[in-house]
Amino acid sequence: MAHRDTVRFLLDGELREVRNCDPTRTVLQYLREDLRRCGTKEGCAEGDCGACTVVVAEADDAGDGLTLRAINSCIQFLPTLDGKELFTVESLGIGGALHPVQKAMVECHGSQCGFCTPGFVMSLFALFKNATAPTRQEIDDALAGNLCRCTGYQPIVEAAKRMYENGMQRGGEAWIDVPGRPADRARAGALRGLRQRGSLAIKGPRGQFHAPVSLKAGAQLVKI
Ligand code: FES
Ligand code: FES
Repeated sequence: MAHRDTVRFLLDGELREVRNCDPTRTVLQYLREDLRRCGTKEGCAEGDCGACTVVVAEADDAGDGLTLRAINSCIQFLPTLDGKELFTVESLGIGGALHPVQKAMVECHGSQCGFCTPGFVMSLFALFKNATAPTRQEIDDALAGNLCRCTGYQPIVEAAKRMYENGMQRGGEAWIDVPGRPADRARAGALRGLRQRGSLAIKGPRGQFHAPVSLKAGAQLVKI
């Protein structure tokens, strides 16, 4: 199968295609500079503060569910999004309605200057989707990569508990899916379709990115 030079991923349930990008362009640069989608913040730009946190979803091995991970977009290269779905803080608030996570942050006074808030919201969103009744330790672990210099952590930990109550008040629909977006199962099917489109090979002025999809393609790569 021929190699591709186009990164394909979902953003807000829609297919995005980026052809021959610089392999070292970060997801944060792509969001803020190319899409002008500036809800995701840049703090340290080296993976320490969590201001740039976004969530990446992959179809699980069974193929009918999603595995979500909160990542630092400032140290994640754009080609690594291939075959995945990206969620940013803009993905959550739809039609003016706050997501249960955002509502909990408001209700628990989890934000002062607000610079860290989109990152905390996305880490909490990943927790919300991955766990139904996290322990205090699991909440602390989920927030371990996010720094806040002015609110303090107790209101944010309270929000991590409140978000589940808010989800239940929405009749359960927000419990499972992002409101207004295709359901997880449908998105997992779409991601499986993206996966099967051959190896990705991008050559840029400052480096190369390869994502082989077979042993044979990987072996050929080792010979390069
Ligand atoms: Fe600080 Fe990315 S901007 S971790
Ligand atoms: Fe100001 Fe967290 S609200 S840094």
